[in-house]
Amino acid sequence: MTGVVVVGMQWGDEGKGKITDFLSQKTQIVARYQGGDNAGHTVEVDDKVYKMRLVPSGILNSEKIAMIGNGVVVNPQSLVKEMAALKEQGVSFENFKISNRAQVILPYHIKLDGLQEESKGQHKIGTTNRGIGPAYMDKVARVGIRMADLIEKDTFAAKLKANLESKNREFTQLYHSEPLEFADIFAEYYEYGQQLRPYVWDTSKILNEELTKGSKVLFEGAQGIMLDIDHGTYPFVTSSNPVGGFTAGLGVGPTAIKRVVGVAKAYTSRVGAGPFPTELTDDTGDFIRDAGHEYGVVTKRPRRIGWLDAVVLKHAQRVAGITDLALNSIDVLSGLDEVKICTGYQLPNGQIIDEYPASLNVLDQCRPVYVTLPGWQEPLRGLTDITKWPQAARNYLEKIKELTNLDFVSVSVGPNRDETIVLKDIWEN
Ligand code: GDP
Ligand code: IMO
Ligand code: MG
Repeated sequence: MTGVVVVGMQWGDEGKGKITDFLSQKTQIVARYQGGDNAGHTVEVDDKVYKMRLVPSGILNSEKIAMIGNGVVVNPQSLVKEMAALKEQGVSFENFKISNRAQVILPYHIKLDGLQEESKGQHKIGTTNRGIGPAYMDKVARVGIRMADLIEKDTFAAKLKANLESKNREFTQLYHSEPLEFADIFAEYYEYGQQLRPYVWDTSKILNEELTKGSKVLFEGAQGIMLDIDHGTYPFVTSSNPVGGFTAGLGVGPTAIKRVVGVAKAYTSRVGAGPFPTELTDDTGDFIRDAGHEYGVVTKRPRRIGWLDAVVLKHAQRVAGITDLALNSIDVLSGLDEVKICTGYQLPNGQIIDEYPASLNVLDQCRPVYVTLPGWQEPLRGLTDITKWPQAARNYLEKIKELTNLDFVSVSVGPNRDETIVLKDIWEN
């Protein structure tokens, strides 16, 4: 089959946008399958920087189809704005499609996200406050509004009315907050629906027809495996499945997949609350944050920083069936005296485990066990010939390969498309 999945192996922001962009140069279709505008994907090509939230990063290769699958939760206001900004940068939407079965995020989801977080006090998840969790709650509760409903005036009005009645009861009686007005939301969102209408299709049909023809398809995951609702650090996760979500989220069978490319940074970052065993709260963490410009695209929050964690990578590899590794941002580590990789977790009784525990209590007691390697001072930016790298940087790469036993698709030494060192043609091998 001809499908390749791109999925983050850590807690998001691994540089999936960049890898999707360069891998999609050889594809006919790029398809997003989960998440929403909680995602923030940066793609740099020449002197232009593109920021995507809902639009698949592969849209830049404009002769291809870029689609948003039914598994994505779509905020129409945010999508309309994002499309306008990208159009201004010269991006074409001629071949853009949105699934008619995708769920719609409405203002009451965003309000509820905020209220739910507030009510958790110290135990906040630290969501992006984009209404993602509440929109997936409505989907599973079978009261969600889909793109097909949004573009039909009467259906949208009836469903919005019913949903607002129950949400307003929740806002006023449970949270003692203000209700939302039907008329304002209806007028604004119906209008967005009409703007998006030309792009709304049965995307599963288009995708399967293309797969049958032998078209190459890139399945673009958002977030990362450690944020997966089932396989991540629950409850400090998002509300969708970056792992394996492409089947249900796009309406294709698992046989569509040829390879799964895991994207990881040469260190680890995390936004929001939750366990992070290799977190660095010292000067080294600050150094990496500054060197890597680690501030969120969506919320501008400083990202938490830590050493690379091979326990996380192996967990990701297992649960997502990763076949190949795209390693980003190794250039960020230049200037450190030493670099560390976590190889296991030590429990209070001395036992060392190399599997990610499900229990947050156990995880809390784990101490990371590191292998320490010499660092390197020379900048790697622009050094796209690995043989010219300092030996210590090459050793670091070798160590990652040894610990994960994964083949590298690419190693990246800067945010730009041409700073990606391609080591394997994923479409041919
Ligand atoms: P995504 O959510 O996985 O697509 O990743 P983000 O775009 O949120 O965050 C990754 C950040 O790292 C972006 O600012 C990228 O431009 C940047 N980036 C990607 N690859 C590299 C790299 O190899 N080196 C450096 N220095 N930055 C990179
Ligand atoms: P990309 O695709 C990093 C995190 C939030 C929070 C948790 C739940 O750019 O890698 P949510 O709003 O989804 O309910 O928040 O998930 N989170 C991300 N962190 N990158 C992302 O996307 C994220 N999307 C959600 O910070 O901890
Ligand atoms: Mg991001």
